[in-house]
Amino acid sequence: MDVDEIRTQALARIGASEEIPALEATRVHYLGKNGVITALLRGLGDVEPGARPAAGAAINAAKDLIQETINQRRAELETEQIQSDLTSQTLDVSLPGRKGYSGSLHPVTQTLERIEEIFVGAGYDVVDGPEIEDEYHNFEALNMPKNHPARAMHDTFYLKNGLVLRTHTSPVQVRVMENREPPIRVICPGRVYRRDSDMTHSPMFHQVEGLVVDRGINFGDLKGTVTEFIGRFFEKDLEVRFRPSYFPFTEPSAEVDVMGPDGWREVMGCGMVHPNVLSMSGIDPEEYSGFAFGFGGDRLATLFFDVQDLRMFFDNDLRFLRQFA
Ligand code: DAH
Repeated sequence: MDVDEIRTQALARIGASEEIPALEATRVHYLGKNGVITALLRGLGDVEPGARPAAGAAINAAKDLIQETINQRRAELETEQIQSDLTSQTLDVSLPGRKGYSGSLHPVTQTLERIEEIFVGAGYDVVDGPEIEDEYHNFEALNMPKNHPARAMHDTFYLKNGLVLRTHTSPVQVRVMENREPPIRVICPGRVYRRDSDMTHSPMFHQVEGLVVDRGINFGDLKGTVTEFIGRFFEKDLEVRFRPSYFPFTEPSAEVDVMGPDGWREVMGCGMVHPNVLSMSGIDPEEYSGFAFGFGGDRLATLFFDVQDLRMFFDNDLRFLRQFA
């Protein structure tokens, strides 16, 4: 085969190469180390000296043309490949991105913070006390001496050395009265513990205690404070009722109900601080009087957020908790 034939054949093969590997094979076939054109160049030594320059020039021209044509074809094939990738691998740039979740306060924390805000706005201090309490502060100083029947209602977790997990936040009242002079206006939010677990009870829950002690404090002050608080907390004017009740540490005592969609719901206990409780903590009941109240912070959260089972707050299921973000 002479150079012209080889060149013509090579250009046809290049044009017919539909993929880059085939094109590369064509290049190797003509221009590779053992390629057809390479062999021709090597064979120049056998050509008659007079004809050699012309023969060499013709072979090199063919070699250059083949190489250049391969380059062009390669560029074409690469462009085609990009085009087909673009159409086959569609990327919808208008899709929304994946959402990242940011953390948020727990619904019970949100509730306690709202409660604190309401009372701080009315001039109350927020105080706390120990969750591991002695029986004196948890019971005795609240007018519940040993063997008092009210102790049985508390389902207490007893620890060693006469200590208990506090069953309510009322012992903080006692600690405040022991350490402060009237006028006293405090709320004490915190964790409390009872051996109890069902839809409306968790063994750990939150209470908020309120205590006001001053000269001339009366039941009207208590009713006004509690009614105002409930209106602010639920952000509407709900019907509120005070029902006579009994607590050892208050006299008289009442339970407070709020009208809900299915009737009255009990939300807190309250009363005038019992004179025994005042005097045991060093406050003269002849000079001062006070009122106290106590309610479940998580229970108010279930009513506010309309949650059926109080224990869901403490299961740490993010699908539940994210609804309050
Ligand atoms: N300590 C009571 C309880 O755990 C709640 C309570 C009732 C607190 C009346 C008070 C109060 O301060 O006056 O059930």
